[in-house]
Amino acid sequence: MELSSKFLSGTMNSVTSKCMVLLVIVLILRALLFPSFPGFDGIEWSNLVYIRTPLLNFDLGIRRDKFLVVPQLVWGLNNQKIAFARACLTAKMLNRTLLMPSLSASLFYKEIDLLQPISFDKIFQFEKFNTLCHGFVRLGRYSDVLNRTEVLIMEKGSGRRWTVERDLSQLKEHSKGPLDDHEVIRIVGKNPFLWHDHWPVNDYAKVFECLDLTEEISKEADRVVSRIRAVGRKIAGNTENSMTSDGSSFQPLPFVAVHMRIEIDWMIHCKKLERRLKMNQICSDKKEILERVRNIVGLKTPVVVYLAVADKLLNNSSILDGWEEGLLPFEKKKLGVDEIYKKYPYLIQSAIDYEVCLRADTFVGNSFSTFSSLIVLERTQKMIRMKTTNLCGENVRWPSYAYNIPGEANGPMRWVTNMSESNLQSISYGTNHISC
Ligand SMILES: *[C@@H]1O[C@H](CO)[C@@H](O)[C@H](O)[C@H]1NC(C)=O
Ligand SMILES: *[C@@H]1O[C@H](CO)[C@@H](O)[C@H](O)[C@H]1NC(C)=O
Ligand SMILES: *[C@@H]1O[C@H](CO)[C@@H](O)[C@H](O)[C@H]1NC(C)=O
Ligand SMILES: *[C@@H]1O[C@H](CO)[C@@H](O)[C@H](O)[C@H]1NC(C)=O
Ligand SMILES: *[C@@H]1O[C@H](CO)[C@@H](O)[C@H](O)[C@H]1NC(C)=O
Repeated sequence: MELSSKFLSGTMNSVTSKCMVLLVIVLILRALLFPSFPGFDGIEWSNLVYIRTPLLNFDLGIRRDKFLVVPQLVWGLNNQKIAFARACLTAKMLNRTLLMPSLSASLFYKEIDLLQPISFDKIFQFEKFNTLCHGFVRLGRYSDVLNRTEVLIMEKGSGRRWTVERDLSQLKEHSKGPLDDHEVIRIVGKNPFLWHDHWPVNDYAKVFECLDLTEEISKEADRVVSRIRAVGRKIAGNTENSMTSDGSSFQPLPFVAVHMRIEIDWMIHCKKLERRLKMNQICSDKKEILERVRNIVGLKTPVVVYLAVADKLLNNSSILDGWEEGLLPFEKKKLGVDEIYKKYPYLIQSAIDYEVCLRADTFVGNSFSTFSSLIVLERTQKMIRMKTTNLCGENVRWPSYAYNIPGEANGPMRWVTNMSESNLQSISYGTNHISC
């Protein structure tokens, strides 16, 4: 034992010192090679290294010897993210560690056997999650459980009679007394996305903030974003006004991401929704989206427009047609990044697209799309972290818009998430009250 630990610490030390030497060399080289590129630090780096402090607070945190198990998380990335956060908050309420849930790699709504379970830590960083969310919620591994034979089943009711109040009292009942003594509680029934929502938007946002993609997936997102920026630089290089005043370099062109929902199944769904809700600001066709994006106040052109679209639209070249001069539309295929996506199952592809939209300088989505809503929520968090005072003001960084609602000058409506809402439902399942 002693020998091996000595050996280990010996190698650790030499590895650490080698790393230090390497780091110093890299820093010196960087200073020598890139003395005149201040733009890089301002734009590219700030995307990657904005600082997040772990959610430390004064309580002793979540119990590490009591666990909660939830059913597999299913459907789209956004459904799975919400389900995950809801499972975490349920576990928090029971003061239990949530055993790392299984996600679904493929997108099926009915064929349960085709869902392809994939472990949480194949998509998100497990340790980092617990570090960032320390004291708030906690994830565990099945190997942490001592006695796997004795599990308390907690059945979620369903139907009309299973009200928010009944759900809440079930949770309270399970958080004390003899029920609470069980090491493991397993929830059975519907998947967490469909559970009642008892938590404020802010709590969901805290959980989302702790979700960092694995290094591999994050690198793929970096590759896509650098492709977009490279295309932008090339275009900027061909136009005169791209030179900075000292003529030294061109800054990477900012880009706009548009989450464009115009595929036929969405159109059918949203038309139904419009009839049911008796309103007409849900479905925007391509023409309306193009017009609203063109009219964004203060948008500097030329600008690269990244189209986040459903796969079935990738073969439809018409989505690239009709954009005004100065708005340069690209999707995965035209960018030449579809090969990156093709390597992965649905869930990872969607996670990459989500990340690209998150990092876009400007985001435009549909306020009735949960995917768009979650992106705006995280972008709003990012603005708050950067101490932006007037989230709806002009010239803020990371602005978002809803193209389905008309705003200033026939552009899209500015959109931020109202972090004071008392539940996620009010912001995530479609609304045209978007706070700006
Ligand atoms: C969870 O339980 C621990 C130990 O009983 C306690 O110290 C902690 O405050 C509890 N946390 C919450 C969030 O209730
Ligand atoms: C696990 O719990 C069961 C039921 O309470 C008990 O019979 C068994 O001895 C326990 N096993 C261990 C390893 O503690
Ligand atoms: C696009 O079309 C090509 C050939 O026409 C086909 O092989 C491919 O599967 C299509 N992709 C999608 C996403 O429909
Ligand atoms: C391409 O998309 C447009 C809508 O943007 C739609 O009208 C057209 O039918 C689609 N074409 C094909 C071949 O799917
Ligand atoms: C945000 O939500 C709170 C709580 O529902 C509400 O009182 C407030 O008016 C909302 N703010 C805006 C700007 O919509």
